[in-house]
Amino acid sequence: MLFSLKNKKAVITGGGSGIGKAISLLFAQQGAEVHMIDLENVSSRQTEKELTSISPQSKLHIVNITQIDEVKKLASQLGNVDILINNAGIAQIGNIENTSSEGFQSIFDVNVKGAFHCMQAFIPGMLQQGSGVIVNMASVAASVGIPDRFGYSMTKGAIRSMTQSVAKDYVQQGIRCNCISPGRVHTPFVDGFIVKNYPDKKEEMFAKLSATQPIGRMAQPIEIAHLALYLCSNEASFITGCDYPIDGGFTYLNN
Ligand SMILES: NC(=O)c1ccc[n+]([C@@H]2O[C@H](COP(=O)([O-])OP(=O)(O)OC[C@H]3O[C@@H](n4cnc5c(N)ncnc54)[C@H](O)[C@@H]3O)[C@@H](O)[C@H]2O)c1
Repeated sequence: MLFSLKNKKAVITGGGSGIGKAISLLFAQQGAEVHMIDLENVSSRQTEKELTSISPQSKLHIVNITQIDEVKKLASQLGNVDILINNAGIAQIGNIENTSSEGFQSIFDVNVKGAFHCMQAFIPGMLQQGSGVIVNMASVAASVGIPDRFGYSMTKGAIRSMTQSVAKDYVQQGIRCNCISPGRVHTPFVDGFIVKNYPDKKEEMFAKLSATQPIGRMAQPIEIAHLALYLCSNEASFITGCDYPIDGGFTYLNN
């Protein structure tokens, strides 16, 4: 079977919702033993039920990726893993003038340090077994910029450059590392953003955000999950150090 993940152990951060949920369920369907990392909330517990009904050996781990000790403890419990998806992330609105120092730090802690902690915790096991695949969730914000997303764009640029750095450092040791840069994807992340910031014009904003993709809509989480599956599969064994936009034409057709 193409794109089989049979006998692979995968760790997926932010697996309880949105893109991470779609990746977790798809990887379980493809035969992987999936270890979702997320915070304690209704969505992660609901996803846990769906996940374990597909794959009884898969699990949800309540771990805050900003806490290196929690991440390292989980890594020592799980042993070697084959796949790491650094997907957990939070959003933030603002330009450089109205981003507070605390706000800057808090988005950095989740989006950048969280991925750093997970790579630092799980790469030693990959080195021990001489193989591993990492996929980091960046964004089109990393390369083309989105207005009023100073802090968010900063973190996604860091994800992109950490991806290249890790890919280069471990290319001889059997570890591949790539990142995905989605345009807008219809997830609770986007719905929450609209409700919080535009409570009086939810439909108008949804239509506006959809229209920023030349294809005329947002992506569905499963479309991102399919790319993650390809990048983590043996079929992608020649791919490392790359950023993959998946954005309905946002990056290359909007000029
Ligand atoms: N939705 C989009 O339009 C879009 C576009 C480009 C990139 N992305 C990126 O894709 C990733 C997933 O986005 P989504 O839309 O699925 O978001 P989402 O909010 O639906 O899911 C994110 C998950 O991460 C978890 N999480 C947050 N902080 C955490 C922490 N400290 N420790 C552990 N888990 C934590 C949340 O609980 C949640 O389950 C993010 O990195 C986001 O920046 C999203």
